Amino acid sequence: MAETLTIPDTELDGMEAGLPKLPEPDPADLTFHKLCAVSDVEEGKSKPFTVEGTHLALFKDNGSFHVVDNRCPHMGYPMSEGSVRDGVLICHWHHWEFDLKTGGCFLTAGDDLKAFPVEVREDGNVYVGLSSGEREEARQRLVARGKRTLEQGLKDRSSFLIAKAVTALRESGATPQEIIQHGLFYGAYKTQDGWSSGEAILAIAANMWGDVAEKDHNLFLVHGLTQIARRTGGGSRRQRFPFPSAGGDPDLDTLKRWFRRYIDLRDRGAAERILITLHDRGHPTSVIADLVFTAATDFYFTGDGHALDFANKMFEALDYLEWKGAHEIIRPIVVDLVGRTRHEETSRWVDAVPVLEDVFTRLDSIWEANQANTADLDVSDFAQVMLQDEIEPIVAAVEEKLMAGVDPLALCRAMTYAGAIRTARFHLKNEGDWHDVANIYSYAHALYRAFQLAPSKELLRGLFHGAVFMTYVRWLNMPSARVPNPGQTLGEPFASDEAMLERLQEFADFQKVFEAELVVNQYLEEGRDIEALRHALAHVMLREDAELHMFQVLEVAYRHYELSDDPEEQRIHMLAATRYITAQKVMKGILWSTENAERLQRGDLLSERDDDN
Ligand code: FES
Repeated sequence: MAETLTIPDTELDGMEAGLPKLPEPDPADLTFHKLCAVSDVEEGKSKPFTVEGTHLALFKDNGSFHVVDNRCPHMGYPMSEGSVRDGVLICHWHHWEFDLKTGGCFLTAGDDLKAFPVEVREDGNVYVGLSSGEREEARQRLVARGKRTLEQGLKDRSSFLIAKAVTALRESGATPQEIIQHGLFYGAYKTQDGWSSGEAILAIAANMWGDVAEKDHNLFLVHGLTQIARRTGGGSRRQRFPFPSAGGDPDLDTLKRWFRRYIDLRDRGAAERILITLHDRGHPTSVIADLVFTAATDFYFTGDGHALDFANKMFEALDYLEWKGAHEIIRPIVVDLVGRTRHEETSRWVDAVPVLEDVFTRLDSIWEANQANTADLDVSDFAQVMLQDEIEPIVAAVEEKLMAGVDPLALCRAMTYAGAIRTARFHLKNEGDWHDVANIYSYAHALYRAFQLAPSKELLRGLFHGAVFMTYVRWLNMPSARVPNPGQTLGEPFASDEAMLERLQEFADFQKVFEAELVVNQYLEEGRDIEALRHALAHVMLREDAELHMFQVLEVAYRHYELSDDPEEQRIHMLAATRYITAQKVMKGILWSTENAERLQRGDLLSERDDDN
């Protein structure tokens, strides 16, 4: 059975203690294989061999023979190309040094080279001993190396080390859930900050696993883990514990009241302790989520919507992990709740706050009416209402729909559709404000998920906050970018889905945004395979050093495409995602690191050219 990652419950020092000691092969189990005649190797020279799939390098040094793994543990350079000085084997690609006899690496963070038993027999030949379980032992070495490399990569903030670790761990049977859990636990434990983009990306990776081609799965994990490494440091979060249970707990209303008060007072420690206590007592996700979502909406659009958005991501991730490691993973969200901007304290919201304060005086009756009545909503029509310019009529329309009994989920869907239109209409002349359109789009989806998980009177405020922000970002559609018309095509036929998606990739590579949108428009019009399109768009994003908002936009587009049966709404969601991920020029460092790590795992020689020139 595949070995799995084991993460200590309270500390990450399981890996910090160093490479776990692997069992030495049993000498009785060794089979000796002839390599060559003693006279075939000159003093100070080496020769490569492959025996039963194991790549070996034979050295003659000071009259003695030594055999080591022929693939440098760093990046796979052939050790037989290295040289030996005073018993030290030097790899000539990046100069890692090893004890030729044992394979021990002289670099503090370097991995050891596997050394094999050697015999020089009376028949004048050199023999190497391989155990019958060499393949399994090699796998175990990979697991051990993967664990240590992941720890080191996170500490060193090295996407290449992280990619090597992810590749080795996945190859040796670790599940995505285990790797995501490790990343989330590390990300929570090794920082004093709030929920980070890396944690959000890992949560999205869990949600979107089926939306991404298998060949891109490692890349997705490396994106999240690399972002986590960038936002964590050497120090650890101070340990906190639940309240003592003797004497009984306060009731849930009291805990909720205390939690909201401590968040209001920006008392992070007290609020964290309440969350940890609720988790310790085994309360379901919906109860804990109710506290957090209420506190996130006690203030006006806290942190441009990130507080609620990240809280939602946290609960999605915790459910995916079955709450394993939750006592740490749950803590950073408190920093987001206490530390992020409360828009009632900004001049930007000065006009909106009195309007909303007035509505919130009627919150009890709005909630009661909403629970008592039932009404449908035309999502498409109401999305247009939300895109209007004036705050007051929009706020009044939201209140009216709630009073009539429209399900808040339907209003969230309309807000998300409006967010997709804002994104699809975002003009490239606006340059640096991409985040704001992504923020309202992602926030609307998070609110939808929050209403699914823990609907409440207090959460209704989130609808009004979102409606106001939607109008504040209206100037990001000035001028309004053109969007392909329904049915508009590139004007050329494509023989297959693959050919069409290759063209999409080419347009994305050259940042031809409108042309990329036209391909997607045509693809949808022709009713082609939607899963292949989802994989292709995810690939376009994962090839770049994409930042959080791209991941958010893609996830929202895919989920709301599925939620709708209106072809026009579906089309706009996919065009919004296409526009967002093709328009922003970024770098490809994470892609190159992951590709190198995967080539290493396959046994390719990175030191050789693979181009034609
Ligand atoms: S040191 Fe050997 S491959 Fe880099």
